[in-house]
Amino acid sequence: MKSKASAPGKVILFGEHFVVYGIKAVLCAINKRITVTAEKVDGDKISIRSNIGSLELGSNKSISEIDSPLKPFYYLADKMIRNQNTGISIKVESDIPLGVGLGSSSACCVAGAAAISRLFRDTTKKEILEMAIEAEKTIFENTSGADCTVCTYGGIMEYDKRNGFTKIESNPDFHLVIANSNIEHSTKSIVARVREFKEKNEDEFSRLCDNESRLVEDVLKLLKINSVKELGEKITENQKYLETIGVSNNKLRDMIQVGQKTSFGAKITGAGGGGCIFALTDTTNLDQTMMGFQSNNYDCFSVKIDFKGLDTF
Ligand code: MEV
Repeated sequence: MKSKASAPGKVILFGEHFVVYGIKAVLCAINKRITVTAEKVDGDKISIRSNIGSLELGSNKSISEIDSPLKPFYYLADKMIRNQNTGISIKVESDIPLGVGLGSSSACCVAGAAAISRLFRDTTKKEILEMAIEAEKTIFENTSGADCTVCTYGGIMEYDKRNGFTKIESNPDFHLVIANSNIEHSTKSIVARVREFKEKNEDEFSRLCDNESRLVEDVLKLLKINSVKELGEKITENQKYLETIGVSNNKLRDMIQVGQKTSFGAKITGAGGGGCIFALTDTTNLDQTMMGFQSNNYDCFSVKIDFKGLDTF
C-alpha cells in the first residue's frame, strides 16, 4: 500500500523573525508544492529518495548523529515503525526551490508527516501539524511553528506562537513576484544571529517588536479591504525593520530596489541572509515587475495564494 501527500510552500508576508519572539505574523501558502509518497517495505530499513540526495538507515538511530537535510523524514518514519514489523520507503518530489525561504523544509515535514502516518492510521490535520513541527525541530529547534502551520492549512493567515493561527477571510487578487538570490541560507543560523542582535540591543529590539505589531494590525485591516497599494507601503516599511536586525545584504537590497521600482512594495521573505524576496503586484504591474528582475539577471517567477493546504491521496 502507498500513501501520498502534498503540501504547499509559503511566503511570510509580514513578521518573520519577530514571530519567534511572540509577535503576530501574516503568511500565505503558495501554488508550488512538495509531494511525498511513502510505502511499507519488508525489513526494518528507512530509505528516502529526493532530488537533494538520499538516505538509507536501519531503525532506532539517534537523530543527533544523522547529518542530512532529510533527517525529519527519518525521524517521522522511525517513530511510526516502533514496535511494527516493517521498513518504509519514501520518495520526495518538489517544485519548491529548496533552502531559500519558501517553506520547502516545512512543506517536506507536513507532507512527510501526512504520507508516513497515514500508512498506519487516519491522522487528522491537527495531529499531522504537531508531528510536522516536531520533525522540523530536528533541524531547527527554535521554530515558531508558523511555516508548518500555513503549509498544513493553506490560504492566508495570521499566526502567533501563543494563539496559533486564524485564517484571514479575504480573497486578495494580488500576484507575488518572487526573486531568488540563489544564496542558500540556514534559517537556524540566521535566527541565532537575530538573537545576538536582540541580546546586544534589547531596547531597540523591543521598539521594533512594537512597530511590527502595530504594522501587522494595520495590515489585517488593509487585507480586509484589499488595499494593495497601501499593503505595498507596509511591505516597504517592514523591510526597514528587517534591515535593522541585520538579515539583509547587498544582493537582497539590490533586488528589493529593482522590485520596488514597478511593484507596490518589496521585501525579504523568510529568514533572509540569502534566499528570496517578493514584490507585491496585481495585473497592472505584474509583467513589468517580472521584466525588471529578468533584465537585471535575477531569477524570478510569480505565484498566487494556495487555498488548499495539505492534500492527501
Ligand atoms: C523562517 O521562514 C521564518 C522565521 O521567522 C523563523 C520561524 O518563524 O521559525 C525566520
